Amino acid sequence: MFNPFFTTKDPGKGTGLGLFIVRQVVEKNGGRIYLKETKVGEGTTFRLEFPVAAKEGAKIIR
Ligand SMILES: Nc1ncnc2c1ncn2[C@@H]1O[C@H](COP(=O)(O)OP(=O)(O)OP(=O)(O)O)[C@@H](O)[C@H]1O
Ligand SMILES: [Mg+2]
Repeated sequence: MFNPFFTTKDPGKGTGLGLFIVRQVVEKNGGRIYLKETKVGEGTTFRLEFPVAAKEGAKIIR
């Protein structure tokens, strides 16, 4: 589902690029994607985690 152009939507409905782009943005920012195991047709829950400071020496604001 994270592969480009993979879609289960009807022809002409989905590009299959949604999650591919999400994964790229998360990876570029040093984050992680967690995916809840679910049954087909039930939807699912994605959890995205990002580091507080991606760059060394960056100021951490809490
Ligand atoms: N929230 C979700 N719950 C369950 N399955 C999902 C979810 N989001 C995406 N998927 C599955 O992953 C496939 C790829 O998702 P992706 O977002 O990359 O493309 P899409 O949603 O099919 O197309 P588009 O984002 O262009 O509308 C979907 O076709 C669907 O099968
Ligand atoms: Mg999508």
